[in-house]
Amino acid sequence: MDNKKIADRVRNMGDSATLKMAQRARDLTAQGIHIISLSLGEPDFDTPNHIKKAASTALENGYTKYTPVAGLLELRQSICKKLNRDQKLDYNPNQIVVSTGAKQCLANLSMSLLQEGDEAIILSPYWVSYKEIVELSGASCSFVHAEISNDYKSTPDQIEKAISPKTRMIFFSSPCNPTGSVYSKTELQAIATMLQKHPDILVVSDEIYEYINFTKEGHYSIAQAEGMKDRTIIVNGFSKGFAMTGWRLGYIAAPQWIADACTKIQGQFTSGAASFSQKAASVALDSGLEESLKMTEAFHKRKDLFVQLLSQIEGFQVNNPQGAFYLFPEISSFLGTKYDKYTIQTDDDFADFLLAEAHVAVVPGNAFGNKNCIRLSYSINEKDIEEAVKRIHMAVKKLVK
Ligand SMILES: Cc1ncc(COP(=O)(O)O)c(C=O)c1O
Repeated sequence: MDNKKIADRVRNMGDSATLKMAQRARDLTAQGIHIISLSLGEPDFDTPNHIKKAASTALENGYTKYTPVAGLLELRQSICKKLNRDQKLDYNPNQIVVSTGAKQCLANLSMSLLQEGDEAIILSPYWVSYKEIVELSGASCSFVHAEISNDYKSTPDQIEKAISPKTRMIFFSSPCNPTGSVYSKTELQAIATMLQKHPDILVVSDEIYEYINFTKEGHYSIAQAEGMKDRTIIVNGFSKGFAMTGWRLGYIAAPQWIADACTKIQGQFTSGAASFSQKAASVALDSGLEESLKMTEAFHKRKDLFVQLLSQIEGFQVNNPQGAFYLFPEISSFLGTKYDKYTIQTDDDFADFLLAEAHVAVVPGNAFGNKNCIRLSYSINEKDIEEAVKRIHMAVKKLVK
């Protein structure tokens, strides 16, 4: 048998650009080359100790068995309390589904709500997996492109122009991966007002970077806007705000009928998420945000440093993110340049050049819907940020038109 037997749905799927770049960086590291990776999608901090302890205690207490498919009631109650505390939104535990990462939440949603003939609007730049997950359901994607001039945020007009009779859902993240942009309350309310004219469209609001937010206003969910709670699915999780990527836990808060559908599909695919992870996550939510805020403070400082240093390099147009831990600079002025054996025609070429010449790993922007950009993660310490920018500067100085 050969790989021709692989189903079209997998054959047609793109590989994860972020994982591909991480692998190439690892290969060079194995050759003894010191690579600074700006391609990481996870906090460099460890999970706070009290959360780890809660998992050990759970294991000691016998939390080693299957849990209810939608998650332990205790955790779903903690999530309801959190939504009430942080968003002033009232949900009951039956409207919460806990899954194996926010990634599974998104897959559950697509499989439950989309099918062939449907369209999903994706606000671009977008997180890599939205497109692949939507297409796996048989639906197609329609992209609304926002540029750096508008801080990579789509306006209600732009979104409305993309709406067709086939549109079922809109996907976006705020704070955004890859841009770090944060939609303000006013901006989200304006989108909600526009959506009043389109009552059948659902919104998937990916809020996984909620706690990594540098704005004074803080996080606002579109589910809080008038008329939106019954048509919004909040996607959130523990990977980013609590540095718990390996624990594989995410959740949705949704209208009951959607939560039921997601529970049904999860019951056939994976059942409940890991039992001891769930016990620890409940402690993470109930014990306040002190540790998350400390991490956010560190990310904020690094962001300021990175923006300041990178802005000094000619050719980079640098955005000023208000959350998450990514920069998404515009690099189109390097396209069409050359050095030695390198010809930079595309963002992929530019990323390859930086890896080979500067020993810095970045992710090409086309993976996120914008081929004039690259994504730089600052989930590294300040010394490495300084060194990475120095290396990038030395390398791009060699490029000529
Ligand atoms: C915007 C966004 N949504 C969802 C996820 C998935 O997170 P999880 O680790 O909970 O599956 C990520 C992870 O990088 C992300 O950046």
